[in-house]
Amino acid sequence: MTDDTVLHVGGASPYDVVVGHGLSGRLPGILGESVERVAVLYAGSLGALADPVVDELVEHYDVLALGLPAGERAKTAPVASDCWEALGEAGFTRSDAVVTIGGGATTDLGGFVAASWLRGVRVVHVPTTLLAMVDAAVGGKTGINTGAGKNLVGAFHEPAGVLCDLSVLASLPREELVAGLGEVVKCGFIADPAILDLVERSDPAALTHDSAELRELVERAIRVKVDVVVGDLKETGGRDGHPGREVLNYGHTLAHAIERTSDYTVRHGEAVAIGCVYVAELAARAGSLAPALVERHRAALGRVGLPTSYDAASFDDLHAAMKIDKKARGSQLRFVVLDDLASPRILAGPSEADLRAAYAALASAG
Ligand code: GLY
Repeated sequence: MTDDTVLHVGGASPYDVVVGHGLSGRLPGILGESVERVAVLYAGSLGALADPVVDELVEHYDVLALGLPAGERAKTAPVASDCWEALGEAGFTRSDAVVTIGGGATTDLGGFVAASWLRGVRVVHVPTTLLAMVDAAVGGKTGINTGAGKNLVGAFHEPAGVLCDLSVLASLPREELVAGLGEVVKCGFIADPAILDLVERSDPAALTHDSAELRELVERAIRVKVDVVVGDLKETGGRDGHPGREVLNYGHTLAHAIERTSDYTVRHGEAVAIGCVYVAELAARAGSLAPALVERHRAALGRVGLPTSYDAASFDDLHAAMKIDKKARGSQLRFVVLDDLASPRILAGPSEADLRAAYAALASAG
């Protein structure tokens, strides 16, 4: 436990994100003594991976363990409703708490259930994927999907703590780990180019759960996210021309359209990688991003095994899907673009010609 890194998230509801190996023993300290019942909302597909956490909690609390469907299938109104019913039957009060164990879909759904039950109970996230560690579990965004798109219903509800046990990544399929690196590399472009240097000089095959390089990447990416959310928790806007929390949506406008039009068969982190190359191509046309930096997007993302081209949907279908994403405001599409490394700004309402040309560049590079 001495080797753990504690990243403090300040603000009105401060909490810690702990990164390390084997974090058992920490949960009761975070949940506190006034909690009687704990609902553990875990991804059913985790199998035995959730057991140590549940076993630890059972020693201290009345535990209600609720297995959830895998992946995005957990993020629906009926699943949230089943959880509310279970909390009601168990007599959950405002002083009880929720613990989530799983990937980003589990922490999003579980966070939303915690945010909405009695208008908000404590929640601690125990993310089990790289993507959830560096993104979904940190920052208080919770939500579910609707037929109209991803994350259209939700709430801001900051966790009481986040425990990132890198050891659990040992059993994460390689393609899921690689997908998580999409969000990590994104953080390199928007705020911390040392991430890019590290990716470019590391042997990608050596980025494993127990490597010092992966740990540094995880900690750097979480620091980027923490700094952003502390400055603009509710995404109301940044200062001095910085986009604020919206910067975390780098690559996400197209990514969400790809996920939706592919019926979520493209992983979020893979879609983000493609979306980052897309906005780099867009910034080269509608802004001032140098061609060498567009190529650096392809090189850094491609190096870790992420996709950097896409042609599985027509531009018109993706354009229509982007327009209903929550990143659109009114009828204007909004993109986070870079003028340089770590120099982000908002591009609102780019021309359809630029949008099309950037997609053509993305589709033709495959
Ligand atoms: N995943 C983007 C955000 O937390 O704002």
